[in-house]
Amino acid sequence: MEFKRGHPYRGILVTFDGRDGCGKSTQHKKFIEYLEKNSYHVISAWEPGGTEVGEKIRTLLLDNSIKKMSSTTEFLLFEASRAQLVDEFIRPALQQGRIVALDRFYDSTTAYQGAAGKLPLDLVLYGNRVASEGISPDRTYILDVDSETAHTRLGTTADRMESKSLDYHERVRLAFKGIAELEPERIKLLDASKSPEELHHEIISDFEFLIKNLGYKKLKTPYSL
Ligand code: TYD
Repeated sequence: MEFKRGHPYRGILVTFDGRDGCGKSTQHKKFIEYLEKNSYHVISAWEPGGTEVGEKIRTLLLDNSIKKMSSTTEFLLFEASRAQLVDEFIRPALQQGRIVALDRFYDSTTAYQGAAGKLPLDLVLYGNRVASEGISPDRTYILDVDSETAHTRLGTTADRMESKSLDYHERVRLAFKGIAELEPERIKLLDASKSPEELHHEIISDFEFLIKNLGYKKLKTPYSL
């Protein structure tokens, strides 16, 4: 297996993705706890949001009282939130040699706005490149679960995105599987019906193997952004 870098910087970018209710936020949190316990210098963030501008965009995107939002508007808002996060945190942290762990990144836009929302894929991929400044993750964990499991994991109050049809969310699931097949070196598609502990160990052992092969060295000094 080849180990390809997703960007020209010293740091490592790891992203967690998958349909709503797949458990990725739990795995992202466990991953951060593991890194901190093991003295890695880590930056944790989520999308949409993670910056002052991004959190305002997040509120708009998830507001259930908004009845009209065109697919293109939705797409551009996700990309705008991402562009701000990349500029404020992701690129600087990678330049400093940190590990950046994200709860969602551009694969979400490809799956949700592209495949499920039916926007032309070439435009979506282009938007992803603009917003991410061409930075790709070094590793992506996509968590896969069926609709029944996803449903039981979601809370009772659905936000604007979660309120989309079952059919939409099934397309999201299939799209994530397709994305994983297209980039097997970068993406690990994981069966998220397993216990959180089992999944966490799978992720950690893959991650340790990855950074060893990439020759990543832990930073000695903490940096501030
Ligand atoms: P998220 O905060 O991950 O939701 P949750 O906290 O419920 O896991 O993401 C918010 C929603 O936005 C989620 O339904 C996925 C969707 N989304 C997109 O449609 N496109 C995107 O590019 C991103 C980042 C998220």
